Amino acid sequence: MELFLDTGNVEEIKELVDILQVDGVTTNPTIVSRSGKRFTDLIKEISDIVGEDRAIHCQVVSRDFDGMIEEAEFINGLHKNIYVKIPVTHQGLKAIKELTKRGIKTTATAVFTAHQATLAAKAGAKYIAPYVNRLDNISGNGVSVVKQIINIIEKHNFDSKVLAASFKNAQQVIEIIEHGVHSVTVPTDVLDKMTCHPLTDYSVDKFIEDWENAYGEGIKTTD
Ligand code: E4P
Repeated sequence: MELFLDTGNVEEIKELVDILQVDGVTTNPTIVSRSGKRFTDLIKEISDIVGEDRAIHCQVVSRDFDGMIEEAEFINGLHKNIYVKIPVTHQGLKAIKELTKRGIKTTATAVFTAHQATLAAKAGAKYIAPYVNRLDNISGNGVSVVKQIINIIEKHNFDSKVLAASFKNAQQVIEIIEHGVHSVTVPTDVLDKMTCHPLTDYSVDKFIEDWENAYGEGIKTTD
């Protein structure tokens, strides 16, 4: 299973790439705009941090086919292992099909139904990104839509991976991982909740207290 960081905050990316086994970074126009940086400067910074082998997913902002293709060609040159995110609209599906023909890797994004996912996989998208929390927010069931998409991709042997996105809590993430999702992209505040537990902190404190009461210092490593 692949783990992506859903952030454009380079300090957070630096820190987490150092701590966790991370496979790459996903951005979108909102994430880029929040960074306050020029688009190309930000992608270059992320690229320098993650290295050329980890993936960066980077989204177009045009709504029309020609604009998407032009932006995708440009984005494709920004990093060695890059996926161009294309929203699944009529124009988007046409662009995914064309970019696949040109050998440019795409991530079908802003996916809310299994129908959209199926058509994007059929068009050649390498990743399909369903948005879990945005569905939950409108009384949908993001987790169950992702499960349905995974089943379809696997049953039909599509050459696409499911990259579940838009998470607001750790429970959403783990339910999808349990069902065998190929990849998740997680914002750093949710990742933090997945990493830590107050009982772990309590246990560590207690272990160290007991040790120090008995020996007064750490393990002698020079014996
Ligand atoms: C992936 O990068 C998606 O764009 C992102 O996960 C959407 O998340 P949001 O619904 O929290 O904006």
